[in-house]
Amino acid sequence: MKKISIKGTGCYLPERIVPNSYFEKIVDTSDQWIISRTGIQERRMVLPGQALSDIALPACEKALEMAGLSACDLDLIVVGTSTPDMPTPSTGCFLQHRLGAKNAVAFDISAACPGFIYGLTIAQKFMQDGSHRHALVVGGEIISPRIDYQDRATCVLFGDGAGAVVLGHSNGDGEGEILSTEIHSDGSLWGLLNVPGGGSLHPPSKEMVEAGLHYIKMQGNEVFKHAVRFMSDAVRKVMEGCGITSRQVDWFIPHQANLRIMEAVAKQVEIPIEKVIITVHKYGNTSVATIPTALDEAFRSGQIQKGDLILTASFGAGFTWGAALFRM
Ligand code: COA
Repeated sequence: MKKISIKGTGCYLPERIVPNSYFEKIVDTSDQWIISRTGIQERRMVLPGQALSDIALPACEKALEMAGLSACDLDLIVVGTSTPDMPTPSTGCFLQHRLGAKNAVAFDISAACPGFIYGLTIAQKFMQDGSHRHALVVGGEIISPRIDYQDRATCVLFGDGAGAVVLGHSNGDGEGEILSTEIHSDGSLWGLLNVPGGGSLHPPSKEMVEAGLHYIKMQGNEVFKHAVRFMSDAVRKVMEGCGITSRQVDWFIPHQANLRIMEAVAKQVEIPIEKVIITVHKYGNTSVATIPTALDEAFRSGQIQKGDLILTASFGAGFTWGAALFRM
């Protein structure tokens, strides 16, 4: 089986910065509460009219440029998202067209925040037999229109963003490698975190929108507890599977939903907080985009170096969760 490595990374965060003070004006909250309970200071939001492919496109172009590849070299485009441009066609198809990736098969996956780890897993399986040589794995979300700006327990948490990686076959010889991924689902817990409206159960209608069913619904406290438990479990499994201990990990990139969740997971899996990449303070929870954007920023800034052993873990609606271990 072929080994797969990350050849390029890219991300794009919208220019519009929304500080915590914005929410102080519209709901009963405070900058101090938001920072102390979540670690979030500000987040990015798109301007009206921007679609997911608009913000994912520059992330993909940057990842291709770093990989030294052109869009025609891609065989596969996998987009993790819960907020595609349209219900159909897929945002993968929009990106294929806009990039000019004529040779790539393209599709979306709906796996909420861990969609990037799901995407890595799927792409790796396509590529291991050698039939697909280069894949683009994208995680992007425009979550700001799905937020109920009257619900203080959710509106302060989220932001928009997109990240991407280009995968290729590893030549060995100092090149990185995806060592292992773990993905899991438990649909029985769907009620704790969902967007009920807009699908076939509650199709788009005036009544559905008036009832606010197109907004994120979350039982934050319950989600918090499950997130810590499931992410820690996935991290232990992926490390055990590779015979790697937490001491060998150079950097941990957990899903950036809440600083307290990241601290709790890091403590449970015995990774010092100094090794945790943190972006939640400036971008909030960008759902499936948190890991690829954090990876790209840390790699481009030199914080993560070629050869470093990277651990990631995520958790989200479904419930879905997973972890991945790779060498850059
Ligand atoms: N400002 C001020 N008070 C707020 C608030 C806000 N923005 N949001 C909630 N509160 C209040 C609640 O109403 C509650 O008040 P009460 O005690 O009078 O009922 C109090 O704070 C405590 O609420 P609780 O939900 O227990 O707070 P928490 O410490 O669990 O923090 C979250 C809330 C949402 C920040 C936290 O639960 C969380 O991050 N959950 C997971 C989120 C997540 O990961 N989601 C996505 C997964 S991808």
